[in-house]
Formats: sequence, structure tokens, C-alpha cells
Amino acid sequence: MTEEARIEKKELTVHLPGCELKLHVAADIEALITDVNDEDKVPCWADVWPAAYGLARFIWDNIAFKPGESVLELGAGMGLPGIVCALKNAELTLSDFNPLALEMAGENARQNGLSVKLLQEDWRTFACRDKYDYILASDILYDPKLNPYLGEIFLHNLKPAGKILIAHPERKATYDFLEAWYDPALFTQKRYTCEVELADSLLTHYNIVIHFLQSTA
Ligand SMILES: C[S@@+](CC[C@H](N)C(=O)[O-])C[C@H]1O[C@@H](n2cnc3c(N)ncnc32)[C@H](O)[C@@H]1O
Repeated sequence: MTEEARIEKKELTVHLPGCELKLHVAADIEALITDVNDEDKVPCWADVWPAAYGLARFIWDNIAFKPGESVLELGAGMGLPGIVCALKNAELTLSDFNPLALEMAGENARQNGLSVKLLQEDWRTFACRDKYDYILASDILYDPKLNPYLGEIFLHNLKPAGKILIAHPERKATYDFLEAWYDPALFTQKRYTCEVELADSLLTHYNIVIHFLQSTA
């Protein structure tokens, strides 16, 4: 039995207008903690974060992909926003450095009838040179030590005129990153806010901010 198959899972139903998605996430995230002193081992991949719900809904309501358009979801965790892009016919690559996250995200895509690519990469050593029409960043710009690596990936892995969707629950680290990294000569930016209600969460209400950047190249 694989390590992923041994994880106890629970099913989530995600409701979008006219569509219901079933995803599996870890039933007990604390059971996945193996080393509290190692930030890389924090199992933050094992659930769907509020930003992912907000970004998924934003994409569902607002984005129409052209045939053949590609999407890279970075730090995908359980993969919800990317899966919504694939439902809307985008060619999806789910990426994470955690192999268990990728296995579960891939399974989540398959169980919704989707075929996706999986890319195991660490932002600090990102070797993929493929370029994408869209890059998704759902609550991954939270660590000032890691954010510069993501800034480089945004620049190197986006096609000309490509789009970046950054979603976060009003995180200072994300705002600080954008303040320092965003260059109006390279990207246009629009900002949206959406409300996310999660009944079985510690906090039930989240304001999710979505930065929609488009390359001017
Ligand atoms: C806060 S979680 C967000 C998960 C998902 N995007 C969501 O919104 O539900 C951060 C994600 O980034 C991944 N991650 C953290 N550090 C990483 C790194 N150095 N390289 C690649 N992925 C990383 C984690 O495994 C996790 O899936």
C-alpha cells in the first residue's frame, strides 16, 4: 500500500453554480505532522484553504479558457482552483513539492473525470522551463523567505500576455511581496474581493483578495 493510500481521508463537496465537485482531503491533519521544527514538513497541503475556495469560485464565474490554454497551479495542495480550470477545459498542471499532496490532488482531478499533469517541484530549485498561459497561486505567498522564488517562477514560466491569479486572505506577507515585486511596466493588475463562508472552520467568514495580473509582454 502506498503512503498516500494510508492517509485517512474525508470527502468535501464544493458547490459552484450548476456544478458540484467531490474532493478528498486528509481527515486528521495533525496526524500527518512528523517534525514540528521543520517548516517543510508542515502538512498545510492536506486541506483546501479559504483562498482556494474563493479563487475556484472566481475562476468558475469569470474565466473562459480558449482551446489549448494551459494552467500551472503552484503549491496546489488538494488542487481545487486548478481542477476548476480543467473543468472549464484548460490543460492543467498541478504542482507541489510534497508527493503526497500531488497524489491526492491527482486523484481529486481523476475522480471528477479530469486528466491532468502532475509536476513535483520545489520553488527553491524550480527546474521546469515550460511556460503557461495562466499561473495560479492560492495562498502560497505567506513566507518572505520563499516569496522571491515564486516571483522568479512567475517571470520565467509565464507565456507572453499570460495571466497570474494570486489569492489570499488579506495576508501582509502577500501584500508586501506584491508591493516589492509588482512592476506596472511588466504587468497590468486588477484586484477583486470575494467572501468565503466555511461552516466547519475555526473562522467561518473570510475576505479573499484576488490579484489578477496580466503580462504586458
Ligand atoms: C497554505 S498551502 C495552500 C494549498 C492550496 N494552494 C490551497 O490554497 O488550498 C501551501 C502549499 O504550498 C506547498 N509548498 C510549500 N512550500 C513549498 C515549496 N518550497 N515548493 C513547492 N510547494 C511548496 C505546500 O505543500 C502546500 O500545498
